[in-house]
This record gives sequence, C-alpha cells and structure tokens, in this order.
Amino acid sequence: MEPEKLRSASWFGRKDKDGFIYRAWMKNQGAPPDMFDGRPVIGICNTWSELTPCNGHFRELAEAVKKGVLEAGGFPVEFPVMSLGETLIKPTAMLYRNLVSMDVEESIRANPVDGVVLLCGCDKTTPSLVMGACSVNIPTLVISGGPMLKGHWKGKDIGTSDIWRFDAAHKLGQITTEEFMESEACMARTQGHCAVMGTASTMAVMVEALGLSLPNNASIPAADARRKVFSQLSGRRIVEMVKEDLTMSKILTRKAFENAIMVNAAIGGSTNFVIHLLAIAGRIGVDLNIEDFDKYSQGIPLLANIQPSGDNYMEDLYYSGGLPAVIKEMKSIIHNDAITVNGKMMGDNCAAAEVYDRNIISTMQEPFKPESGILVVKGNLAPDGAVLKPSAATPALLKHSGKAVVFENIEDYHARIDDPALDIDATSIMVLKNVGPKGYPGMAEVGNMTLPKKLLEQGVTDMVRISDGRMSGTGFGTTVLHVSPEAAVGGPLALVKNGDIISLDAHERTLQLEVSEEELAVRKAAWKQTETMQTRGYVHLYQTHVEQAHLGADMDFLKGGSGSKVSRDSH
Ligand code: FES
Repeated sequence: MEPEKLRSASWFGRKDKDGFIYRAWMKNQGAPPDMFDGRPVIGICNTWSELTPCNGHFRELAEAVKKGVLEAGGFPVEFPVMSLGETLIKPTAMLYRNLVSMDVEESIRANPVDGVVLLCGCDKTTPSLVMGACSVNIPTLVISGGPMLKGHWKGKDIGTSDIWRFDAAHKLGQITTEEFMESEACMARTQGHCAVMGTASTMAVMVEALGLSLPNNASIPAADARRKVFSQLSGRRIVEMVKEDLTMSKILTRKAFENAIMVNAAIGGSTNFVIHLLAIAGRIGVDLNIEDFDKYSQGIPLLANIQPSGDNYMEDLYYSGGLPAVIKEMKSIIHNDAITVNGKMMGDNCAAAEVYDRNIISTMQEPFKPESGILVVKGNLAPDGAVLKPSAATPALLKHSGKAVVFENIEDYHARIDDPALDIDATSIMVLKNVGPKGYPGMAEVGNMTLPKKLLEQGVTDMVRISDGRMSGTGFGTTVLHVSPEAAVGGPLALVKNGDIISLDAHERTLQLEVSEEELAVRKAAWKQTETMQTRGYVHLYQTHVEQAHLGADMDFLKGGSGSKVSRDSH
C-alpha cells in the first residue's frame, strides 16, 4: 500500500494547521520527525491492568511489540482499553464483553492507526478485542499473553481445574482451610492466564486456528522468554500486513471458522468458545450458526491430553509440539489453504511441526478420547439449542432421565443446595434458571453447580445439570449449558417445576421436558418475569439489546461493522 493511502496520512501527512496539531502533541512524547514520514502507524491495544492479573505482564509484551514495529519501519502507539479480569469483576466479566468491544472498535476507528496488534489474555479480553477490531476491519494481529506455568502443591502439579476439587475436598473436611489457602499461591505462581484448557487458552487456540496470530501463539508460556520473542516478531509482521493490506475479513473466511471449530474439538476447548465465535462471525459477516459447532465437531476425537478433559497443562502442549503439531495431525480434514496473518496458508504453517510426546498429542487414529467437541441438543426444553461438552462429561450420564430439582436463581441455589432436607439424589437433574444473558444479567459461569454436600459425602462425583448460564472453561461435569431461549424471557426453562421428568439424550441430540403441551401452555400463561431489568446505564443498554446465547449474546445493534472511515475529517 502507498504511504499516502494509509489511514494515518489523513492525520500526519497534512501540512496545514490540523496536521500541525496532530503531529505536535505526538512530538511531546518524544517522537522524532521521521515517525511522520508516511510509515505505517501501528496501534497496540493493551488490556494491561493490575485488576486483570492474567494480563499483568502486558506492559513488557507491548515493549517487545514496539521493538518489532520499529525494526520493520513502523511507528508503534500503545493505547489502553477496558480490561476484563475474570476473577474479580462482578457480577460477571461476560456482562462487559460487548462494552469492551465498543471501546476497541471506536478507539481504533477514531485514531490514526493503519494496523493494530491486540494484546489478549484473560478469557473475555480476547473475544471483546477481536469483535471490536472486526467491526473496523483493518490489518490486525493477535498476541495472547500465554499460560501460567503449572502449579505445584504437596508434590503434585495443580492448575485452575483443581479449584473445583479443592472446594469439594474442603467442604468434606478432607483438607483444612489453611491448606486450602496455602494452595492458592502454589497454583498461581507465575504470570499468565490459566494453565489448563480453560476459556483463555481456548481463546488463544481459537485465534491461532482462525489464522489471526502467528503460529504457536496458543501455548508458549507467559514466563518463557520466547513469548517476548513471539511478540517482537508479531510487531515486525503487522507492519508488513499493513503494506499488504491484509485485513481481517481476508483472513476470517468461512473456512477459517470451520477450522476453528474443528481445532477446538481436537483440543477439548471450552463451551464458551461457541458463544464467542458466533459473536465474532456476526461482526465480520460470516454466516455461522449453532448447529455448525456440532456439525464440524462430528467425528473429531480429542487429540490433546490437557485438563480439564485430560491430565496435563498448556506448557506441556508447547513442549510436545504446540498447536501446529495438533493441526498437522488434522491435515486430512482441516482447510489447509486458509490464509493466516503471516501471509502463508494454515497447512504450510504447520507442515514442519513435530510431536515430541504422544501422551500429550495423540494421533487421529489412536486418540486420547474418541469423542470431543461441542454437542448441540434441542427439544422442547431448548427449542433454539443448548450445548454440552462430552469430553468433560460422564459417559453414562449422556443418556439420562431424572426428576428435576429446580433452583429459581443463583441465590436460591446457594440458599438450599446444602439443606439436608433437599429432596435430591444422584439420579436427579439439577436445573438452574435465570442465569442467562438478560436474566443474570451477563450469563454467569455458574452452570456447573457444585453438587450437594450430602451427595458428595456419598461419593457422587457428577450429575446432569441444566441451566441458561455458562460454565468456566476449567470446569467439568455433565452440564447442559446456554439453554436458549433463557428463562428470563419466558423460555421453556422458566416453566420447569420440581419433580418434572427431564430426558437428556446427547447421542440423539435431544433435551425433553416430559410434560404435556397443555400443561406447559397453562404454566406459560401464568409465568411472570421475576428477574429485575435495569432502567439506566450500560446494564440497561445491555439488557435491552443483548441477543440470546444461540446467536452469540452480542447486542443487536453491534452486529456487522462500520469500516475504518471516520465521519468527519477536521477539528
Ligand atoms: Fe484469567 Fe483464568 S482467570 S484466564
């Protein structure tokens, strides 16, 4: 691309009063005159925050990106956007994913950047940044922060998935409160995001499988010096991408999305992947629907033996060959000709990869688990679909009928779950309402409800659980999630009563509430919305416009994009 055609030229290329203003205030930061000679200006969109501990090292990564941009003849400019730390933000980081996407979109479009590097890490920081950038559609490259090194406690490797086990053990008195708290520091011992295939790692895999990052983005540990090298090389590459005008829409084709779904199956990615990929597709204008996740997951076994579906950690994946080695195993089924940010095709990027440990990365012929991916179930309880992750479920429960034990909302669950009088046994199906996009609001990660203490004491480890909420990517269990439409808008989930029989048949992809049509019509007529709808502020905007889970839970007015043109061109 010619320098005068760059977006930044309409700021820095001007010789008038406005050009004076644009350049002068940048020079107060020490920018030499030749930074305004028509070279590509590269925005570095940073989600660094001490309130997002997973992204706490991003200032260092940004410096590495800047080095690369300068080496390649670009002008790097770093800017912050709202950062979503999964662990601290209440009521749930997902409530703000769409808000951040607006921040990112407007920040990119409004400023003199020709290309952008997105620094993503903790769960929602990836989809929010990618969604926002898609709506602008300039050359964009993603760098993930990398996983933490695995934790060690009492002679064992530990990671985020152990939180659920430690919680159950603590509840049962098998470990003391002191031990429980001691394990915290042993688990989160280095910079980076969760060390298992939770949502953050799944998102890092997703961007690599989509072709939005250089190879090996997903698994280089945050603490490994090669993460900085990776960032520097990415900084060099984005400058070239601007010259080639390699925009997001040229990479994010339908083939790229199908690749991402197939790779997500092979690595046992989080169910949150569904909701975020749908939202990204909606922004870039690729026609993707919830059935595609089941369709393109079909027949793909679990190749990566990583928690929570397996036993190991993200660093182990890196040492065993990384994501390129997994994708190479899939070369007979993926779209090898999908273009990626380095200008090469996916198949070429992975051709030289080798597997160094077959216990971590298996073959398609002898997989770690035969069934993986995302199942989409439908029926009168979820007319628009619900999702289930078979690799994290108990096989025997994938076909199960049981009596519903209903919790009207998360407070009701907390109040009654450990009541000794609660009428529940291991064959029951736990139902949680009003944790969906509008109802919670923000679709909380509470779908893998901890089992009642009295059943844990009996040795019960899993039960069928159904909700309109989400599950942490680090969680596991036979959990039917994202039931759509949600209870708060009067979906059939709202009509379930204690004692109703529910039948799940994941093999047949069905989820049925065994109650007559007539009775459901009576219940529907009597249904009243119980959850509060906010009347002001962002939450009001969100509740008014958020779409249902099967559409990606984006806000209706944010779908698609507005391009990179600014509406007015003068002060
Ligand atoms: Fe940030 Fe898990 S809490 S990735």
